[in-house]
Amino acid sequence: MTTFQELETQFTSGVYGKRNLTLVRGQGSRLWDDQNREYIDCASGISVANIGHCHPAVVQAITAQAQTLLTCSEAFYNDRRAQLLQKLTRVAPRHLQRVFLCNSGTEANEAAIKFARASTGRTGLISTKRSFHGRSMGALSLTGTPKYQEPFLPLLPDVTQVAYEKLDELAEAMNENTAAVFVEVVQGEGGVRPASQEYLQGVQALCRQHGALLVVDEIQTGLGRTGKWFASEHSQIQPDIITLAKSLGGGFPIGAVLMTQAIADKLEPGMHGSTFGGNPLACAAAIATLEVLEEENLPQRAAILGQIAFETFTQAKLPIVREVRGLGLMVGLELKQKVAPYLDALQEKGVIALNAGPTTLRLLPPLIISEEDWRAALAIVLETLASNLNAKS
Ligand SMILES: Cc1ncc(COP(=O)(O)O)c(C=O)c1O
Repeated sequence: MTTFQELETQFTSGVYGKRNLTLVRGQGSRLWDDQNREYIDCASGISVANIGHCHPAVVQAITAQAQTLLTCSEAFYNDRRAQLLQKLTRVAPRHLQRVFLCNSGTEANEAAIKFARASTGRTGLISTKRSFHGRSMGALSLTGTPKYQEPFLPLLPDVTQVAYEKLDELAEAMNENTAAVFVEVVQGEGGVRPASQEYLQGVQALCRQHGALLVVDEIQTGLGRTGKWFASEHSQIQPDIITLAKSLGGGFPIGAVLMTQAIADKLEPGMHGSTFGGNPLACAAAIATLEVLEEENLPQRAAILGQIAFETFTQAKLPIVREVRGLGLMVGLELKQKVAPYLDALQEKGVIALNAGPTTLRLLPPLIISEEDWRAALAIVLETLASNLNAKS
């Protein structure tokens, strides 16, 4: 254990399980540890560094803004915030032209819960089993994973979880008190599980039929990751709300709730807010990030690189792989064994990958990764999975 690891272990809260790795530097799709060992990053800080680590445009924007104005409450107008709102609504679906800014994914979902209740006058919320929407008490009430919820019961009342991909269960759960249905287009933490178009269109139809809002959590899937700006575009659905965070600030914390005019019309001053929400530093980082995504055409790049992975893994037909799942550069391999030893072995070989549950290997590289690096990382994953570690241990 290095000194840094000893220090963290001594003083940290203990709520995180940690990998045996101290990362100190990043550039593009590469990361370095405290021994100056280099890694190909296939995690992106869990889909945060989509434009790569320390993108010069973001570094430059943050540096310039830090010398100008660091903080500015939303009780005042601000030049950078105004520019971000304009930029974000230009890339957003045309029917979502109103935005609430915050600092993280869970806060974006927390705001979406409040906006759904306030704008419909209803209290019922529905989410899906195996979903992940965050860890603050409201968002946690939606997160369909019992192990995250149980230590903190009781949670919000009037929240129902239904099986993903099962429209009949959703239809049964909906009623005249349903304010909103929350759904991920691809369940990320729940195992990289893309929903079918029919399911998502069916969810939308049920929401419309019952007068409930459709909230799509694009915190992990949004802003190019799946091969389109928003994963919901793959299914031609029109959510009433989209929540964003993770990659929006190019590595700097920021979250956002995109909503329809009809919802915004029901919100009033004082109903919600955040001291740091919409701060100029985060807004400067997000403007630069959106420009990079646009200029480098990264959603399209994610689609192309994702296809390479899909072909590589399906053609390899590795005995240990039960299923290859994903959308764009959100790649999941369902293994027949526990994934943890493979993550350690990949790290040893210079590739940082993730799990999504106990048996799913998840790859979320920066969208800017070179084809050469991506193919090299995929070759290392193939070689590592072929070594069948659990069988040896
Ligand atoms: C789909 C989804 N929603 C919400 C969150 C919570 O985001 P945060 O950790 O920024 O609160 C996550 C985080 O992994 C996520 O993947």
